[in-house]
Amino acid sequence: MRERVAIVTGGSSGIGKAIAKKLAEAGANVVITGRNAERLEAAKAEIARAGGEVLTVPMDVRDPERVQQMVTATKEAFGRIDFLINNAAGNFLCPAENLSINGWNAVINIVLNGTWYCTQAVGKEWIAAGHPGAIVNIVTTYAWTAGPGVIHSACAKAGVLAMTRTLAVEWGSKYGIRVNAVAPGPIADTGGAERLLPDEEAVRKTVESVPLGRLGRPEEVADAVLFLLSPAAAYINGACLTVDGGQWLNRAPF
Ligand code: HXC
Repeated sequence: MRERVAIVTGGSSGIGKAIAKKLAEAGANVVITGRNAERLEAAKAEIARAGGEVLTVPMDVRDPERVQQMVTATKEAFGRIDFLINNAAGNFLCPAENLSINGWNAVINIVLNGTWYCTQAVGKEWIAAGHPGAIVNIVTTYAWTAGPGVIHSACAKAGVLAMTRTLAVEWGSKYGIRVNAVAPGPIADTGGAERLLPDEEAVRKTVESVPLGRLGRPEEVADAVLFLLSPAAAYINGACLTVDGGQWLNRAPF
């Protein structure tokens, strides 16, 4: 990863921060984005200790102009972009029948539209420069299974999975750009766990459903991302690598 430059959206906490750290440890320079400038600076200090240079860009992925500015700032700072990790997400538990239009739009805008704005902005740079980079989109297992209370997030993540596969074909064949996804299951110490596993009972039931008998760690998701971006995955395109301890296969049939 030495000399390589990676953009990690939502890189100031949880899975995004773990990904940025892992890439920095491997020698990459990283750009982390997030809405909270203070949290970004704290994360920068932590990631910089792992190695490499870190650029922070406070922004909301829902704003396509800011996304374009972030891409420009990355090129100015490092002169190149090699990897994009679309990790920024928004979620909360809400029964489908109670979800407001704004609630639906907030999550669709962050997860589906935000991923698209970043992907197109970075993809255009690669295409113009003749530089085949690689993208990893963070999705979730309920993008293809199901679960109550996450209709907005599930629909958005399923869209991101479709984006992954569509671009793997379109940009893979024309430009050699690889696009893959990683689907975490229940991961401790993340915004997702905070929202989706709000009490001890929810954690206990989830742990019981995981064949490996525990929640995952953000670093374990980061390992999968690092692999997909590395030369070891040079022939992997359009794949979705699940990191869930086997949970989604373990749904009781009755
Ligand atoms: C019902 C809710 C709600 C809740 C927000 N809304 N929280 N409705 N129940 N708990 C509604 C609001 O009432 C409002 O609608 C609309 O959503 C927008 O809310 P805002 O707070 O104004 O939006 P905003 O500040 O933009 O915040 C976006 C957010 C927030 C998505 C609501 O949670 C957020 O910023 N999240 C970012 C971090 C995050 O979610 N990380 C977890 C990702 S985990 P009205 O109608 O009232 O105006 C993940 C996958 C995990 O994605 C998979 C694990 C297995």
